Amino acid sequence: MVLSTGYRKIRTAVFISGTGSNLKSLIKFSKVKKSPISIDLIVSNNSKANGLKYAKIYKIKKKVLNFKKKNLSEKKLLSILNINNIEMICLAGFMKILSKNFIKRFKGNILNIHPSLLPKYKGLNTHERVLKNKEKYSGCTVHFVNAKLDSGKIILQKKVKISKNETSVSLAKKILNQEHKLFPKAILKVVNF
Ligand code: GAR
Repeated sequence: MVLSTGYRKIRTAVFISGTGSNLKSLIKFSKVKKSPISIDLIVSNNSKANGLKYAKIYKIKKKVLNFKKKNLSEKKLLSILNINNIEMICLAGFMKILSKNFIKRFKGNILNIHPSLLPKYKGLNTHERVLKNKEKYSGCTVHFVNAKLDSGKIILQKKVKISKNETSVSLAKKILNQEHKLFPKAILKVVNF
């Protein structure tokens, strides 16, 4: 990772698709003095994503691209990222898969958060599958993004214990709380500020 600057904050874009609670926690993190990042752009594939409200609240630029024609959306996106001098991308509940070419253009400076203890439970409906398999633990992972789904090098993980009467809703909530702490920690780890 070629990101450590030491004297200025790393210009970061956060990609979302829904609620944006990780986005909110990253914005809060970006505002603390010791934070190595600034959040300069919010990208969503979904114009109705609730998380887009944080663009207005925190006065951050936003861009919606529907990804129906992935090539076209990615091409536009790369130019927007370029214009905004974005150096790092955080995928925070972004439910689209980025192409190999797009990932290559960012030379590994893309981080993703996933609500499981990878390499277990890649993909969707994580919590339901975890409960169905009667796992004792689950958790969350921050990893670098490579061309394969949820498969890049792991940066940090946090384990959570599954309670007796756990439901997918209660588990998602429990893990989300940990995600909000884990993403900033993982950024600090890779950036070595
Ligand atoms: C989070 O739990 C995140 O880990 C997950 O979506 C949720 C988004 O919540 N991401 C994935 O499942 C990606 N494969 P948020 O919009 O409140 O941050």
